[in-house]
Amino acid sequence: MADAIVCESVSKRFTLRESRTLKRRLVARAHGREANRSFLALDTVTFTVEQGESIGLMGLNGSGKSTLLKLISGVMRPDSGDVLTRGAIAGLIEVTAGFHPQLSGRENIYLNAAILGMSETEINRKFDEIVDFSGIEKFLDAPVGNYSSGMYARLGFSVAVSAESDIFIIDEVLAVGDPPFKKKCIRRIKEIRDQGRTIVFVSHNTTQVQRICNRALVLEQGVLTFDGTVKDAIHKLRYDDEDDVDAEGGEL
Ligand SMILES: Nc1ncnc2c1ncn2[C@@H]1O[C@H](COP(=O)(O)OP(=O)(O)OP(=O)(O)O)[C@@H](O)[C@H]1O
Ligand SMILES: [Mg+2]
Repeated sequence: MADAIVCESVSKRFTLRESRTLKRRLVARAHGREANRSFLALDTVTFTVEQGESIGLMGLNGSGKSTLLKLISGVMRPDSGDVLTRGAIAGLIEVTAGFHPQLSGRENIYLNAAILGMSETEINRKFDEIVDFSGIEKFLDAPVGNYSSGMYARLGFSVAVSAESDIFIIDEVLAVGDPPFKKKCIRRIKEIRDQGRTIVFVSHNTTQVQRICNRALVLEQGVLTFDGTVKDAIHKLRYDDEDDVDAEGGEL
């Protein structure tokens, strides 16, 4: 099998902007503290994903999952290390990313599909399918700035799944969808997986990760601390200690 994603000793550093006022800056300096401290959001992360694998990327809030997805999708560059990907990438990282609030749902479909590399003919051909999947036909000509967060997620997801990508990445966007839409999305993601495409799925929902992924990576404060089965990843994170771990699951 060919490699789809290769991350080689990838690090990303961010600056913590803490002391904004002059007074706080001076106080910080007087105490020998730098006004702006930096920290490693990703610390020499190394792993390889083969074509056709479906990877669950797990970890607590702030552990670096979205940052890693941004590096994989190319929206951000690592400070050091290499990120190599093979083929086209589509998906959804932030629910509102790529949307223009003043444009209508219809216009945003064209805008987002074009960003994903679709031609106008292709978008025209897939337009009805996209709208149908989103279930927001009634609001298609309203500005998306007035959409609810669930409606944003519906539109973004529908456009993303219509792209013929080799790698599909998805970041916790299902969390804002209602249960019927979530079911539809999980079914669609499984279809993508069964087509042999590569998936990187970020979710705190262990049931969903178990249903979709055949391998999991765990990030802890920017460090990749686990690479193995989903079951063991859940155990490592102690997510299986929760009484309500399956509360969101239900049968799909
Ligand atoms: N552009 C940025 N500038 C500064 N700090 C950032 C930036 N983006 C992310 N961070 C920080 O990097 C760390 C990792 O953030 P990231 O969004 O990757 O976490 P996450 O694992 O996706 O968390 P969550 O589960 O809450 O979505 C956090 O401490 C966050 O505050
Ligand atoms: Mg995130």
